[in-house]
Amino acid sequence: MKNNETKERWIQHYSSSHKILLVGEGDFSFSACLAKAFGSAANMVATCLHTEGHYRWLRERDSILIRMHQDLIAAYFKTAKEMLLEEGEIHVTVRDDYPYNRWEVEKLAECAGLQLKDKVEFRKENYPGYQNKRGGNINCNQRFPLKACYTYKFTLKVSALENSDGSEVYESASTEITSIITTVEDLQI
Ligand SMILES: C[S@@+](CC[C@H](N)C(=O)[O-])C[C@H]1O[C@@H](n2cnc3c(N)ncnc32)[C@H](O)[C@@H]1O
Repeated sequence: MKNNETKERWIQHYSSSHKILLVGEGDFSFSACLAKAFGSAANMVATCLHTEGHYRWLRERDSILIRMHQDLIAAYFKTAKEMLLEEGEIHVTVRDDYPYNRWEVEKLAECAGLQLKDKVEFRKENYPGYQNKRGGNINCNQRFPLKACYTYKFTLKVSALENSDGSEVYESASTEITSIITTVEDLQI
């Protein structure tokens, strides 16, 4: 921490010294949990998107919906990547059982120029106060089962940090985000 009088605090992978952008928050209970652990929310910006639309006739296993989820995540990686510090990370927490594993999050990240640094089991009880919520306007205030849930941690690919002549890029993104977190499952598009 820059301020020597303030002690750095951690919760799981996240530190009060990180600059964190949270995307796709439901009821903000995840960001509230981090803020409580840090003793402040000064190092984070938490966002959500209120969506009314829901494709009632589509089921999660339908290929058209899987494709829509993939397009959304691919677009998300593309924008999030532009905001990262060289040593920054993009975290996506998502289920790894069928049909969610058909989203192929790792492949989408790879295509976006990211590489997998780590994949760790996500346990809700490690985040006191966090309540996962459905999105959209169908049962939107209800939980869903967190089966086979993992947090994927992605970093910029080394090649993305090189200039065309192979020399390293030292300039960092202007927004200086060290961590972008999103907990997604059953995204509403
Ligand atoms: C299944 S909910 C999960 C909510 C929350 N992250 C949690 O863990 O409880 C998915 C969330 O993604 C949000 N979302 C959907 N499309 C989005 C988009 N294009 N940009 C940002 N958030 C989006 C929805 O509004 C919804 O709150």
